[in-house]
Amino acid sequence: MGPITTIQANDFRRQWDDLRDDALAAFEKVGASGWYVLGEEVRGFEEELAALWGFPFTTGVASGMDAIEISLRALGCGPGDRVLTTPISAFATTLAIVKLGAVPVFVDTDDQGLINLERCGDLLRRRRDIRFFVPVHLYGFALDRGGLSRLRDEHELLMVEDCAQSIAAVGEVAATSFYPTKNLGAMGDGGAILSRDAGFDARVRALRDYGQTAKYRHDFIGYNSRLDELQAAYLRRACLPRLERWTTRRREIAAAYLAGIKNPAVRLPSPPKGSEPSWHLFPVWTDRRLRDSRFGIHYPIAIPDQKALDGVPFEAPGGYENARRLCASEVSLPIHPYLDDGEVAEVIAAVDSL
Ligand SMILES: Cc1ncc(COP(=O)(O)O)c(C=O)c1O
Repeated sequence: MGPITTIQANDFRRQWDDLRDDALAAFEKVGASGWYVLGEEVRGFEEELAALWGFPFTTGVASGMDAIEISLRALGCGPGDRVLTTPISAFATTLAIVKLGAVPVFVDTDDQGLINLERCGDLLRRRRDIRFFVPVHLYGFALDRGGLSRLRDEHELLMVEDCAQSIAAVGEVAATSFYPTKNLGAMGDGGAILSRDAGFDARVRALRDYGQTAKYRHDFIGYNSRLDELQAAYLRRACLPRLERWTTRRREIAAAYLAGIKNPAVRLPSPPKGSEPSWHLFPVWTDRRLRDSRFGIHYPIAIPDQKALDGVPFEAPGGYENARRLCASEVSLPIHPYLDDGEVAEVIAAVDSL
């Protein structure tokens, strides 16, 4: 896919041109407030995100990875606990588990790169010791909601849904990321935990702030993982008002790719039926020869194959051959909301000319 030289996987300069005035006004607001940590902007953003996403509670944290780790901690996950998860995701998903001393149990993916829920069910029927589950709504494709709920209820799982790439999950606990490339991206790091249980949310709030339950009263060994006030102001005042438009544009581009790309050597994504993907990424799968690309690859190495896990306890009871195959063949086409129609046509032509 060499011929495309000017199209960016993400175009933050165009984004800045569009939202500059709102961003500067947001920063001005924080500066003038004189309150720089856990102030009005974090509180307001948490409320607005909760309302948008349909969760009663939202707590901002420092990153998507922290959102997963803190959620698991607040559910009681600790050393030696088994956590079912996927071999294809950002490494951060597994890192959050491993940092707690818990043991990831990888289950292979389907042909879209999403964890295979049937295989999860088979494993859980054999293994009564797995109590936690971190499914990932990868690429912006929502995992089957009914399937997830059945697994949770049948096996009494405590579930943290990794929604870093998907802003559409509706479960019990959703952990998300505001890394700049995300559909709702900050100008730095950030994350949030959305939930339905007041007690859980209170633990999460304490954990993000040194385990404090009241000023100078520490009931838990917590973290310093607060969503930054400036990032919250930016997300709230510059990004949230544009999110619907951005998502619409991502969907338009995905529709154009799905209708336009005809190359039989390229397998296009087919998200789960009935889902409305938020198209964080547009993955295609093609053979290695065609992977000479300046575009992203998500992800080139299956998580259990990462060097960092050498000597770290994990399990992969049924193997992860499918995940390995996908990792060897995935390419992400550009799908950011500032891509224009000419560029979309250019991408289609380039893929078809391979
Ligand atoms: C699926 C997934 N999980 C977790 C993360 C971690 O988020 P963060 O980079 O905000 O820590 C990311 C993003 O990098 C991600 O894409």
